[in-house]
Amino acid sequence: MTHPHVSAQFPNVRMRRMRRDPFSRALMRENNVTASDLIYPVFILEGTQQREPVASMPGVERVSIDLLLEVAAECVALGIPVLALFPVIESSKKTPDGVEATNPDGLMPRAVRALKQAHPELGILTDIALDPYTSHGQDGLIDENGYVINDVTTDMLVRQALCHAAAGVDVVAPSDMMDGRIGAVRAALEAHGYIHTRIMAYSAKYASAFYGPFRDAVGSAKNLGKSDKNTYQMDPANSDEALREVGLDLAEGADMVMVKPGMPYLDVVRRVKDEFKVPTFAYQVSGEYAMLKAAALNGWLDHDKVMMESMLAFKRAGANGVLTYFALDIARLLKAQG
Ligand code: PBG
Repeated sequence: MTHPHVSAQFPNVRMRRMRRDPFSRALMRENNVTASDLIYPVFILEGTQQREPVASMPGVERVSIDLLLEVAAECVALGIPVLALFPVIESSKKTPDGVEATNPDGLMPRAVRALKQAHPELGILTDIALDPYTSHGQDGLIDENGYVINDVTTDMLVRQALCHAAAGVDVVAPSDMMDGRIGAVRAALEAHGYIHTRIMAYSAKYASAFYGPFRDAVGSAKNLGKSDKNTYQMDPANSDEALREVGLDLAEGADMVMVKPGMPYLDVVRRVKDEFKVPTFAYQVSGEYAMLKAAALNGWLDHDKVMMESMLAFKRAGANGVLTYFALDIARLLKAQG
């Protein structure tokens, strides 16, 4: 008589053996998610005691600097290592050249100084690009045809990066996709003695429709109108080109590289990690967040489960960390789980 579990034709290898119990699943788990994997992007605005919800990003608010300090305190308590700041600039300060980006008393440098004073141990990352500051919503200065002019834009980005470095930022993250900007920013930082300022290059940044809610959040969508960013951000069809971009940014002095968007581009994350073996990050962008939140709010997906599964997917693809609007939700969940 054969045992009830065993047929005449038994398999040589039983993959399910290790999946049977929590202990052996835990033993062979290849990746995990911790708070230290997270970079939390936050939208900031002028004033005090100001908080405004972002309609297309449920759970995300724009906050004034005083409230930002409270967010920062929670990040420190939960072990989130880095905050990424994005400014909402008043329309009256937007110009064709976006020069407000270089104002030493602007919203961003004031936020950086306040954060570094209150929480010196918390890493602060700032976006280097002009789109929150330009009246046309492009990431740089444009010519009469609306084409973003590379080298004059780079000069402005260098001034922006130096302004943030002077305020004490830990990481500058050029997100503009101009050619040569990493080298220019690195040279300027060195020349001014900011040798410790790290550069996280948005190296493989695609011209993606997944950025829609972000452009609502910083208020650049209305400035941009029907224009797109296809002449500088990458074509979603390409991935060899992403490797060239990453190679250039590393050669120009980037400390870390990033792929953006995230989940639809995990193949690119893996290729970059395999090819270069450098600190590699992914940005789970606003539209990805909006998709998951919307489905969860409708009861169509389990919020916490898809959130954590998406993080594991990033880790499995080779990301060292993830910029995600879920960062606080994730860190709170991890803490609650002990
Ligand atoms: C600015 C910038 C964008 C994002 C980050 N930095 C928008 C864009 O390039 O249009 C998108 C982030 C997100 O969608 O969450 N250059």
